[in-house]
Formats: sequence, C-alpha cells, structure tokens
Amino acid sequence: MSTIRISEDLKNLLYSLPEIDVESLLESYRKPMRQSIRVNTLKAKEEDIVSMLREKGVELEKIPWTRYGYWVVNNVNVASMLEHVLGLVYIQGAISMAPVEVLSPKPGELVLDLCAAPGSKTTQIAQILQGEGVIVANDVNAKRIRALSSNVQRCGIINCIITQADGRKFPLWAKSFFDKVLVDAPCTSLGIVSKDWGAAKNWSFRASERLSKLQLSLAISGFDCLKASGTMVYATCTLSPQENEWVIEHLIMSRPNARLESIKLEGLKMNKGLLEWQHKKFNPEVERCVRVYPYEHEAEGFFIVKITKEGEGS
Ligand SMILES: C[S@@+](CC[C@H](N)C(=O)[O-])C[C@H]1O[C@@H](n2cnc3c(N)ncnc32)[C@H](O)[C@@H]1O
Repeated sequence: MSTIRISEDLKNLLYSLPEIDVESLLESYRKPMRQSIRVNTLKAKEEDIVSMLREKGVELEKIPWTRYGYWVVNNVNVASMLEHVLGLVYIQGAISMAPVEVLSPKPGELVLDLCAAPGSKTTQIAQILQGEGVIVANDVNAKRIRALSSNVQRCGIINCIITQADGRKFPLWAKSFFDKVLVDAPCTSLGIVSKDWGAAKNWSFRASERLSKLQLSLAISGFDCLKASGTMVYATCTLSPQENEWVIEHLIMSRPNARLESIKLEGLKMNKGLLEWQHKKFNPEVERCVRVYPYEHEAEGFFIVKITKEGEGS
C-alpha cells in the first residue's frame, strides 16, 4: 500500500482527538473512497434511471440516510457514462449528501447555499425542491462558479440564482430573508484526504486557526440571513475542532437566539460533538453536533450541525 505523508501538526491533532481511531483513519486515507451517486429525479423517474444503469452493468445499493443516493458496488466508472453527461446522475460522496438531508428543504422555500461551488449540494437541494421555491447559490470564486453553473444547467434546474459574492457580506442585502441556509464552509479537508493527500502533508494548526475565523464569519452571516424560525446547517469536511466545535461555540455566543438541534439520520454512524479539546471546554449544547469519520463508511469525514433561529432579530 502507498505511503502517505502527514505533517507533524496533523499527527499532534489526531492524537489530541479523544475518540478517533488513528490507525483506521490513516488506513482509510490510503484507500479510495467507495463510489456513490445521486440519481436526478428532475430529469427522469428514479426507477427508470436505476434500471438504465443496471442494464449497463452498474451494481447499485441504496444509501439509507439520503433520498436518491446509491453506492456503486462494482468497479464501473459512472463519470464516463452518457447518463452522467446528460445529468441523469450526479457523482456525489455519500456523506456529502447528509447535510442537505439534515437541512430538509421543502418545495416552495427560499434557500441560500452560501458556499455553493461546484454545486453538489445546490443540485441536491434543487432536486428536493422539485422546481418550487428558489435557491440562491453563492460562491466567492469565479472559476468554481463556472463549474457550479455548468452543474446546475446539466441537472436541468430552473429555479436557481447564482451569485458571486463574499458570503460574509450577504446580510447587507438579504438579512432575515431565507427559510433555510446551508453553510458548507471552506475547510482544511481532513475528511477527504484520500482524494487529496496534500491536505495531510501540509496541514497546520496555524492554517486551521486562520480558516476558523472565516468560517465563524460565514456561519454568523448565514445565520443573520435566516428568517425567524428558519433552519441553518453548518458543515465542513474536516476533523479539526478549531474549525468545527470552536466555530459553533462562538456562533451561539454571539447569537443567543441560535439553538442547536439534534440530528437523526437512518443508518449513518454519528459521533457527538466534542465537549472538550486541548483544555478548552465547549458549551454542552455543542454535543448535538455530529462527527462522521472517513473509516466508518469508507467515505468522507464530515462535521454537521443543525441550527434554528428563535424569535426575531439576530
Ligand atoms: C467545501 S466547498 C463547497 C462545496 C459545495 N457546497 C458543494 O457541495 O459542491 C467551500 C466553498 O466555499 C467557497 N468560499 C471560500 N470563501 C468564501 C467566502 N468568503 N464567501 C463565499 N464562498 C466562499 C470556496 O470557493 C468553495 O467553493
């Protein structure tokens, strides 16, 4: 098996995490993740797409925690198939489908995806909205917005507005406006190292701390864009408490009307948010956050938290 290089800082981080199985994690980093897809019911019926793929030799198994999600059990490269080009399927990590299930958008709602490119979750939200309601899909990066735009088009979505802005400024024009907000924040990517070994080789406490300030501003901005009683999901694909529990602790400190909700998803192994890390104690509510480790499903690692906005004001 190939050898993966991990930075000294990352070694120190991993051994500081109370519950993680470091050996299993490092082994998962060396292996490719299981392939998974979402069938796009905006283009055709789920059963028709599934039988089309099965006829072409793709072996599929339902993913229990998400609608329309399937594991590809055999070694077929779905990315090179016509069904992918036509937008009948979207290649998306199995755990990456969980945050949108937690957000649970409903047809007719106004949804903001604050950090949207390249659009896995935007297209998933659009599928659940079934053409009713509007998604504002925002990202700061022009190059990544091109990929977002092409994915939105490929999936046949007509109710999505794409914006290019720094997400931290969104409350200037959309304060208390949205029913649902997703903040899938930029992060140090320790949940997807098997796709990008550089994330492990270059990982540093300093970079993680710097990023956590941006993440907190984005989380606060997303929260301020929520209507009263609205729901926000904050997610990262990293394991560092600095970018996860620390951000949420500071969000609830600066926005006392933010409530953390418990998360239930069938069949997904979920670990509670950490209450303590490196002598820092977090608010007990932070336990409601969910951590998923890459070795638990041979898929990505994720941190997910569901937040509701109580009453008026922000
Ligand atoms: C984890 S990725 C989002 C993945 C996307 N949600 C998906 O499921 O396909 C984080 C994104 O945040 C964007 N980003 C970074 N800083 C931002 C900012 N200040 N405002 C808005 N987006 C930002 C990055 O360009 C990147 O596309």
